[in-house]
Amino acid sequence: MTALEIITRKRDGHKLSEQELDFLISGYVRGDIPDYQLSAFLMAVFYRGMDFEETAVFTRLMRDSGIVLNHDDIAGPKVDKHSTGGVGDKVSLVLGPLVAACGVINPMISGRSLAHTGGTLDKLEAIPGFTTQLDIATFKRHLRKLGVCLIGQTPDICPADKKLYALRDATATVDSLPLICGSILSKKLAEGLDALVLDVKCGSGAIFSDPAWSEKLARALVSTAAEFGLTTVAVLTQMEQPLGRAIGNWLETREALDMLHGKSVPHDFYEVTVVLSAMMVWLGSLTPDFAAARALVEEKLASGAALQRFRQVVEAQGGDVTLVDEPENYPKPKYRQIITAEQDGWLQQADARTLGQVSMLLGAGRLTKESDVDPLAGIILHKKVGDTVAGGDLLAELHSDRVPIPEELIRRAKTAFAVSPEKVAPLPSILAIVDREGRRDWQTDI
Ligand code: URA
Repeated sequence: MTALEIITRKRDGHKLSEQELDFLISGYVRGDIPDYQLSAFLMAVFYRGMDFEETAVFTRLMRDSGIVLNHDDIAGPKVDKHSTGGVGDKVSLVLGPLVAACGVINPMISGRSLAHTGGTLDKLEAIPGFTTQLDIATFKRHLRKLGVCLIGQTPDICPADKKLYALRDATATVDSLPLICGSILSKKLAEGLDALVLDVKCGSGAIFSDPAWSEKLARALVSTAAEFGLTTVAVLTQMEQPLGRAIGNWLETREALDMLHGKSVPHDFYEVTVVLSAMMVWLGSLTPDFAAARALVEEKLASGAALQRFRQVVEAQGGDVTLVDEPENYPKPKYRQIITAEQDGWLQQADARTLGQVSMLLGAGRLTKESDVDPLAGIILHKKVGDTVAGGDLLAELHSDRVPIPEELIRRAKTAFAVSPEKVAPLPSILAIVDREGRRDWQTDI
């Protein structure tokens, strides 16, 4: 067997055996197979796909490229949430401490900003001193004490995904259904979970901008996870416009803190966070039904228990807790530009992908793996789809701390917005859920 033969077979549309997939993955992790051959393999998978069985084998091999955690020594249901990636998605920052305050054990291993989408690690690291690089022993110690710990991928968890993901990012092979399935589920299966909630984003800012593909992805993830005995529910959520008002690392952490402090936040951010958290509590069998889970989650938010837990997490992970108490003391960006409406009407569009790209180019994300993020860079939205707008009203503010904001970026940000003279309805936040029984519409079937 040679790498060339296996790549040729996939290129010609054949199903690969476990031995063939193992040959490629282990060979690549060991450094025996070069990037150019794996890149060709990834492109062959992108065009030819993998069937269900092949995807499950691929996922297992990716998981077993590293260690699989076990938390049997910690009492309580182990449940995590994973988002397929969006713009303004700061949900994990609130959800982790919130579900822990409800009794869930949440071993969260998160990622960094990628392309136009943000990453939980970069948002947490906007808090000075906060470290997301912990060894497994420390991770478990925090998990036992606080019920939640938020870290980045370690070299011993799914090393195959770490290497493959970087290659996919550089070879235009990220948006492949079997490759996404293997990448997401291998990491979640390695976390040692009892149940998993997936936030599958739908709309222009999602990994697949076609909602039909988001649903296909949700079905593939749920059925592949079931092969491993992991109870999984996918929630399809809106990503036509950014979630909440803030895009960018500190701006999003600040918005998460606002929610934890009980301040008013946009309805979509509140609703998505509460629904995903309640789903975790329910799947963790901590309440008899979803309604009771939602009530418990809202009670822990309103009582300040979730804020208190977030504060403990920041302290445990080395962050400056004074900023949790007084986020208004954070430094301000050097450069700001505003975007205003040119006509009266209703906001019809705040395109998530364009705004995510502008935020990345302002410095909130990475153009290359090595780039450093500007914690203060990003965008604040002053209107959400469906809001009334008068000519001259502020639509958005662009922030940057490192370089003056170029005209070209301001022009690009303006193209994200459209105002209609006709009334526009707000976008629904939760669209549907997909579980082993199939899809159910949120508004009509739940
Ligand atoms: N998130 C991941 O972790 N992997 C993917 O392939 C896509 C989104």
